[in-house]
Amino acid sequence: MFLNEEHYELNGHDIMLRGAAAEDGAMLVDYLKTVCGETPFLLCYPDEVHYTDEQEAEFIKEHNEADDAMLILAFVDGQYAGNCSFTSIGPSRRSKHRADLGIAVFLKYTGFGLGRLMLTRLIKAIKECGFEQAELTVVGGNERAYHLYESLGFRECGRIPNANRYDDGTYADDIHMVLNLKAE
Ligand SMILES: CC(C)(COP(=O)(O)OP(=O)(O)OC[C@H]1O[C@@H](n2cnc3c(N)ncnc32)[C@H](O)[C@@H]1OP(=O)(O)O)[C@@H](O)C(=O)NCCC(=O)NCCS
Repeated sequence: MFLNEEHYELNGHDIMLRGAAAEDGAMLVDYLKTVCGETPFLLCYPDEVHYTDEQEAEFIKEHNEADDAMLILAFVDGQYAGNCSFTSIGPSRRSKHRADLGIAVFLKYTGFGLGRLMLTRLIKAIKECGFEQAELTVVGGNERAYHLYESLGFRECGRIPNANRYDDGTYADDIHMVLNLKAE
């Protein structure tokens, strides 16, 4: 599904949310390399981001064309700030009521309410799609993300101990969280 341009005001800044176009592919690969270096709480190290611009364009196309997926880009005063997305967990009848979501914004745009605004919009789209629950994984120690998710109604439902092993030999858990949309 494709989100047409929407505007919001946040602390005096213009926030524009919109779906992605194929031409955004290169920008999204650069963004992924940067945010993966800014935080230990994403999937991998920046030198492990190997997507080509074409692969990213395909990722964008899949989200735009599917009726159970969406990718939302956020711009603060016209500058690209990050994105969030959801997809169905799986195509089978037993799992198609579950949506999986993810979000990351550049470090300089964290902490001023953008994540809350983006997720609120994303959850609305997930509900409108008919999903019964939204699910996500957050790395143990990511207190800001955990707090944000909890305040939006997500509840912790399980942990994979030491799911993340860092180059310095330390570990962090993966925490699974779920938002029950039927209860709302
Ligand atoms: C996680 C992320 C998406 C949140 O977006 P954001 O715009 O920074 O978050 P917001 O400003 O909307 O909200 C953050 C909330 O956490 C709170 N917070 C900030 N630091 C905190 C901390 N150390 N402990 C607990 N709460 C904290 C803020 O007060 C705010 O809560 P409030 O609205 O109740 O006051 C963003 O920080 C990010 O992309 N981080 C890097 C990548 C990442 O971690 N992605 C998530 C992977 S699961």
